[in-house]
Amino acid sequence: MNHQELYSLAEQARTRAYAPYSHFTVGAALLTKSGKVYLGCNIENAAYGAVMCAERTAFFTAICEGERDFAAIAVAGGHEGEAGDVCAPCGICRQVMAEFCASDFEIVLGPESDIKVYRLDEILPLSFTKDNL
Ligand code: THU
Repeated sequence: MNHQELYSLAEQARTRAYAPYSHFTVGAALLTKSGKVYLGCNIENAAYGAVMCAERTAFFTAICEGERDFAAIAVAGGHEGEAGDVCAPCGICRQVMAEFCASDFEIVLGPESDIKVYRLDEILPLSFTKDNL
């Protein structure tokens, strides 16, 4: 599975987003080290604090299925009805990544015509993790 393919799966997951309040739809495709992919989309709520991001939907689904070893996540997001653009994970999602992933975990961002790949320690430097406890 290359970065482009993983990003395409994130775009597919994005079509399932439930975003009636922000109209900003996001999809994520999380690749395990064994080659399996778990999808996620953002799921909003009338009580805004209950909103779940696409990245965490994918992580929590995978973890619930027994996965623990992750290689990469692709994220595709943008305004409803428009092509996906750069959609960098929010701080809470970065913290969830830091809980389960090594510093070389890859974050694959769009747009599709200009895929860029970042390492977790690049997008969350000086992180607080279980190693600090
Ligand atoms: N959102 C995500 O799903 N992932 C991100 O990386 C950024 C934001 C969602 C949350 C909310 O439903 C909408 O995008 C607007 O913030």
